[in-house]
Amino acid sequence: EMIKEAFGLASLEEQVSTILSVPKVIVVSGNSDRHSWVKKEMGRACIQQMKAHLTPDDVVAVAGGTTLASVAEMMTPDPRLTSVTFVPARGGLGEKVEIQSSTISSVMGMKAEANYRLLHVPDQLSEEAHDSLAHEPEIKELLALIRSARVVLHGIGEGKTMAQRRKAKPGIMKELEKKEAVAEAFGYYFDRNGNIVHKERTIGLQLDDLNTNQKVISIAGGASKGEAIWAYMRYRPSDILITDESAAQAVIDHE
Ligand code: BG6
Repeated sequence: EMIKEAFGLASLEEQVSTILSVPKVIVVSGNSDRHSWVKKEMGRACIQQMKAHLTPDDVVAVAGGTTLASVAEMMTPDPRLTSVTFVPARGGLGEKVEIQSSTISSVMGMKAEANYRLLHVPDQLSEEAHDSLAHEPEIKELLALIRSARVVLHGIGEGKTMAQRRKAKPGIMKELEKKEAVAEAFGYYFDRNGNIVHKERTIGLQLDDLNTNQKVISIAGGASKGEAIWAYMRYRPSDILITDESAAQAVIDHE
């Protein structure tokens, strides 16, 4: 039974990898829309991958969300992580404190017995506030650290779900609907072809900062995220995707 399941998952991994042009896909069994333990299993797989790609003194940039919170929950101390620093990928995006990137990277840092830095900037910055904050020496240093990240960990959300969760203003909501935003990651919204249709203004990692020296690990599961994963990977295929059986099936069906 277990061997059969392993073959089944391996075949899903192969198909999803081909469809999305993502070199490494890891599929855990189950549907994280329905069972929270599935998110923890994805978390465990994510930590394993992250460790495999880290060298001493590396920086790990971490996004927010409930999936990343599960990754943090699964973190344990490891001598390989002692000199590693966890940083939030971007500033506030209108999420609850528990699932903000700053909280998650601090929990990861503490549980791993590694180092961490906080990035406390208000959500919804005006252009002026954004520009002047970006010139504060302490923020500048942190931004450089974020850009130097060896590994970037982030979730992918379904567009409408994320806009609602973050209580987007009616105007933005309409715009997202009109432009058919089906996916979200790091506060960027994408249509089904992977075009950016909206971007939240906040400090920190901007998507075009991502470079080929970094390992970008995306973690997203649940049948409801199939199209979102598909669309986001049209924008930029990640190095590694950690997902679950139901999302993998949804990606295959979408294709
Ligand atoms: C956000 C991340 O906080 O969480 C996004 O910035 C991601 O990258 C989203 O789309 C996903 O949330 P969840 O709760 O579905 O893991």
